[in-house]
Amino acid sequence: MSVKEQVLTILEEEKGCYLSGEDMAAQLGVSRNAIWKSIRQLQKEGHLIEGVPRLGYTLRTDSHVLSVPGIKKYLQVPDLELTVYPTLPSTNTALKQAAEAGAPAGTVLIAEEQTAGRGRLGRSFYSPAGTGLYFSVLLRPTLPATDCSLITTCAAVACAEAMETISGQKTEIKWVNDIYVDGRKACGILTEAALDLESGGLQYAVLGIGINLAPPEQGFPTELQSIAGPLFPDHSGGDVRNRLTAEILNRFFQYYPDLTGKSYLEAYRQRSMLTGQSVYVLRAGDKIPAKVLGIDNDFGLIVAYESGQTEHLSSGEVSIRKRTAESPKIQKFSVNFD
Ligand code: BTN
Repeated sequence: MSVKEQVLTILEEEKGCYLSGEDMAAQLGVSRNAIWKSIRQLQKEGHLIEGVPRLGYTLRTDSHVLSVPGIKKYLQVPDLELTVYPTLPSTNTALKQAAEAGAPAGTVLIAEEQTAGRGRLGRSFYSPAGTGLYFSVLLRPTLPATDCSLITTCAAVACAEAMETISGQKTEIKWVNDIYVDGRKACGILTEAALDLESGGLQYAVLGIGINLAPPEQGFPTELQSIAGPLFPDHSGGDVRNRLTAEILNRFFQYYPDLTGKSYLEAYRQRSMLTGQSVYVLRAGDKIPAKVLGIDNDFGLIVAYESGQTEHLSSGEVSIRKRTAESPKIQKFSVNFD
């Protein structure tokens, strides 16, 4: 760890308290000048560090720059290799490259901003700096490829639970893997995997998570305005992104060792946004009216058609016909699944 990272770690641990440069220098076995240089560098990166003569330095409690020490302070999962970048085209793309080059499971790439964030079905994911959270986790599970979708459903529960814990807001999971807050999409998940053709299992999977935390400064782009929304409508700072990143990782890695045991199924069902809704199942150009009965044991969507026949959907597209009283804000949306 560099001196700068060590200084930030110390300041994070005592956030809001004053620490003397001399004590930090002694603790790290470096000169006071090295401490001063690190502080200057951290300030340039946006960390709100104040220096007061005779008191020392403090990292202000409202300092909210994403950082490895800032996340680790809340992280309970050992052996994760975190890196934070100011900007990346896409954390998923960068992590796939790292995976191909042999990066170990537990590598996590986090970006303040993505310039080419990617969503499902070839869509883009709007990822402006400062108001969102964008990160990817490298997994090398011993799973048959057919169970790969469990990574996504498990992550959806981990994200929903973490978002609720940090914000106090209620979340809903829109089958398969979008998380809605107050009728708007606040989180999307993109899992990309490489197959090991010999074993039929996975070589690796990259789990990518994107969350809108606050309204973007310029607002959401026009095409997203009726769909996307933030977790915090009025959020203006605070150490939320570091805490939320750690909370998601903590929860995901609690479930992950027994992914196929599906202990997160009930938590998923409880938040299922489509359950009880009237929808259209979109198939080969047709819109077939149906009612969503629930989520089956494999996270499939159970629908009942007007004929009385039921079907378990594991892929396809569904659009909502009308919204029940619980969430009247949503007039129309579609669900895509591959
Ligand atoms: C979707 O809603 O369609 C999925 C969006 C996934 C976005 C995240 S942000 C971090 C990671 N990097 C990407 O380029 N995409 C995922």
